[in-house]
Order: sequence, then structure tokens, then C-alpha cells
Amino acid sequence: MTHVLDRVEAPIVYPSYKSLDEFIDVGWLKSLDGYITERVRRRLEAHEDHKFYTGPFRLKEESPDRPGTRMIYLSRSSQPDSYYDLDRPELWEPTPEAKEFAELSEFIRSLPFASTGRMLIMYDDAPRPVTPHRDHDVVEVCHEFVWFRTNLSKPFYMLDHRTREKLYVSSHSAWFDTVNQFHGSDACDGLTFSVRVDGRFTDEFRSLIPRPRVNPASAPSLWACAGAGFNF
Ligand SMILES: [Fe+2]
Repeated sequence: MTHVLDRVEAPIVYPSYKSLDEFIDVGWLKSLDGYITERVRRRLEAHEDHKFYTGPFRLKEESPDRPGTRMIYLSRSSQPDSYYDLDRPELWEPTPEAKEFAELSEFIRSLPFASTGRMLIMYDDAPRPVTPHRDHDVVEVCHEFVWFRTNLSKPFYMLDHRTREKLYVSSHSAWFDTVNQFHGSDACDGLTFSVRVDGRFTDEFRSLIPRPRVNPASAPSLWACAGAGFNF
């Protein structure tokens, strides 16, 4: 395994992300805004959800690793928390929250997954930034996931740590390179939330994705920068 930020295919520039809006039902997603907001608010009043942990790969080591964002798991693994199990659907079972957010669960079933692993809502009700971080540092591991949101309030960005350039995500959904660049969010007033679902994409969806010869984790950025018709 290569634990370095390695070379990538020539068309790739960072920061970058692949919008998946053309592959999902954005109208349906937007229509869930009030439904999810109401249920997240209920949980805020009822009890404390677990705080999101950025992991060790932060841009600045002194930045908080539990910046305040909380998480609602719609599925839970039978194994102790490991980033390398996100895409092993056999380990993941729906939680009671999957029923609490039944309409969201139904939307998730429309996403281009053959099977799903971790499903997670991340939210905050206070203006706190999400510390820029990478999810892991293994360039051979490329997680297949859809990140999405019902509204555009969360100022979520990709960041190239080499140039410090930021690129704000302007779409409702994205797949992005979580290894060779950083991601985070600025502080924002009011309740903000987003959802990330990991799993295994369908073969049909996979056939659209250009795969890099080196640095598999860079696939979302290759797709974003080179387009689907990229050939070596
Ligand atoms: Fe992350």
C-alpha cells in the first residue's frame, strides 16, 4: 500500500469533484428538504447524536478533530468502526433511524448502487466549520459513494493543500477524491446537513467511470476533469 499523495493522470487538477446531479432525481431530493429538517430538529431536541470525527488526516494538526458536526447512522456495521469496511455491504444492517427517515431511505434506494454499506446523515445547528481533512491516505482504495444534500446551504468545498485553492461544491450531489485532496465546510448559520451513502455502484454506472492507471483513489477527479470519454 502506498501511503503518500502519489502522482495522478495528466488531466487531473485539484481541487475537483464530480457532480452526480445528472444521474439522480434532484427534484425528488429537493422535495425531502422539509421532511429531513423536521426530523433532524426533533433529534436535536431529544438527545445528542455522536460527534463526527475527522480522522487523523487534517490539514492542520491543531484543528479540532471533533468540530461539532453530529451524525445519524442509517446503517450500522457489525464490526468496529473501520474506514476500510464502508463498501462491504455484507457487514451493514439498517438502524432504527432508517425507518425514522423512511422517505430518505426510499430515495437512497433510487441511487445507482448494487448494494449499500454505510449510510450517514451529518448535521450541525451552529455556525462551526468542518475541519478540512482527507478521509484516509491509501491511494489504492477508492470508495464508491454518493454525497448529497436537499439544499445548497452548506458551504462545502474541496481544497488542494499544495496551492490552498478551494473549490465550493455547487451541485446537490457529488462523488469526490477523498485521498489526494482535502474537503471541509465553512461555518454557516442555521441547520445544515448532508448525507453520504457508500456501497458498490451498479455495473451500468461503473461502466461510465474512467479508471486511472495509477492512483485508483483519484477516479472521481479523473471523471470530473477528463469526462466519461477519456481513453489512454
Ligand atoms: Fe470526510
